[in-house]
Order: sequence, then structure tokens, then C-alpha cells
Amino acid sequence: MTDEKARTLRFEIFRMDPSDPQSEPRMQEFELDETPYMTLFLALNRIREEQDPTLQFDFACRSAVCGSCGMLVNGRPVLGCQTLTSELPDTIRLHPLPGFKLVGDLSVDTGTWFRGMAEQVGAWVHEREPFDPEAQEARMDDDLARAIYEGERCIECGCCVAGCGVANVNPKFVGPAGMNRIKRFMIDPRDSRDEEEWFDIVANDDGVFACAGLMACHDVCPKDLPLLEVYAYLRRKALGTGAARPRELLQIGSSPGA
Ligand code: SF4
Ligand code: SF4
Ligand code: FES
Repeated sequence: MTDEKARTLRFEIFRMDPSDPQSEPRMQEFELDETPYMTLFLALNRIREEQDPTLQFDFACRSAVCGSCGMLVNGRPVLGCQTLTSELPDTIRLHPLPGFKLVGDLSVDTGTWFRGMAEQVGAWVHEREPFDPEAQEARMDDDLARAIYEGERCIECGCCVAGCGVANVNPKFVGPAGMNRIKRFMIDPRDSRDEEEWFDIVANDDGVFACAGLMACHDVCPKDLPLLEVYAYLRRKALGTGAARPRELLQIGSSPGA
């Protein structure tokens, strides 16, 4: 990018402070000269430093790891830290992620939603045997370990939830991130929940059958998690394909068109 080609970007940013009863939702405009390799993180920091120190937004890692910088950019949920302004038109409209409690301006509270979802689906290894500190570490098949790790790559950014129409109207829906979390524990042989317990979690009005299956979540996930496969796997499971054991479940989950 050369100086003569540098653009003046026009930002239209949602503003509201829910802690102030006088605050009304509105859009505020800012202009900024684009610089080479400018990300939304850099642009918003410059706006805050040079034009309005009250602007609220979240960033921490700046490298698509912490999940704190999700926002709607021209209507699409993305991570601000990995979005280059050069990929966007001259006018950039920014809104907070829908589906989460607004903290202020572009900042939302994703933590409360993810904690509620984790409690709803029991997002931890349920072990019935008492802990034996003398027991040898259990071995795990490499492919199975990789499949579990795949589910663990979720950074809880909330982009998939924001992009999901069902999650936006039903706060109890476990959402795409919740379905991903369920599958991660379902295939883990250390989790001793039985078929009936899984069925109760998956096959209810707030579980997989609430999903409309149009896969907006899959399209917007910045970590490219295979949410389409997760959805198909859980649906098959809920429809009763599996009195299967973990290895068989893993094969179902990774087969094309599952
Ligand atoms: S496929 Fe299901 S979970 Fe994904 S966005 Fe659509 S309704 Fe939401
Ligand atoms: S599944 Fe993807 S989009 Fe959804 S919270 Fe996890 S990383 Fe973000
Ligand atoms: S700042 Fe951490 S994911 Fe963007």
C-alpha cells in the first residue's frame, strides 16, 4: 500500500452504556486514515487514543487465541484482531455480538453465557470411579486424542452463537459451541456418562433438535471448527445410531457426510 492509495476509512460504531440510564443506543461516525496491515484492533485503538477515550471494546491476545474480540463487522461475526481493514470496504459498520449481555459499545459479556452452557451440558469429565493416586496413567489412542483436541480448539469467542438465529431467540439453546462441547466429552472414554444421560442432554428442545441446521455457525467460526460434522454426529446419536462405544462413535463423527 502506498501513500497515494491510502484510504480514509469511515467507521460507524454502535454506542451505548447500559450502566447509564440516560444512554440510548446510537451509531457514531469516525474517520481514520488507513495504514498498511491495519487490523480492527489497531484501528479501534487509534480511534480511542486520538478521538474518543470512552469507546469500549475488548482485545487481549491480538492473535486469535483469547476469544475476547468478537464483534459484528458489516453484519458478520468476526474476530477484530485478525480482520484486516484492507479486506473491508471504505465504510465499516461495527456492532457488538448479539446474543450476549452488553457491557458497553462493542464489549459483551461472553463469559456468563459460556459458563451457563458449560453447566447445562456438564462440560467436564464425569468419572464415577474414585480417584486413585496410585493408578497408572491410562493410555489413549492417538486418533482419539486428536479428535478430542479438535473440540478443545474452541476459543469461546461467541461468533458462532452470534451468527445463530436460534441462539439469538432461545437463550437456553446450547448453541453451536455447546454442541461442540458435548461431542468433545461424548467421545472421551474417561467420561462415564451413559447413553441415557447423553440422550437427555442432546435430545431435548434446547439441544440438537432445536438447531435449524443452516450452518451459519460453521461459516463464521474463526478457528474453522468442523461444526457441520459435530451437528451431524450429535443428530445421528440422538436419533439412536449409537449404543456405540467411543471408538465407533469417533468413526461415525469423522466419516464424510455423517
Ligand atoms: S446450524 Fe444450528 S447451531 Fe448452527 S447457526 Fe444454524 S441453528 Fe445455529
Ligand atoms: S465454535 Fe468457533 S465460533 Fe464458536 S465459540 Fe468456538 S471458536 Fe468461536
Ligand atoms: S484479541 Fe484475543 S482473539 Fe482477538
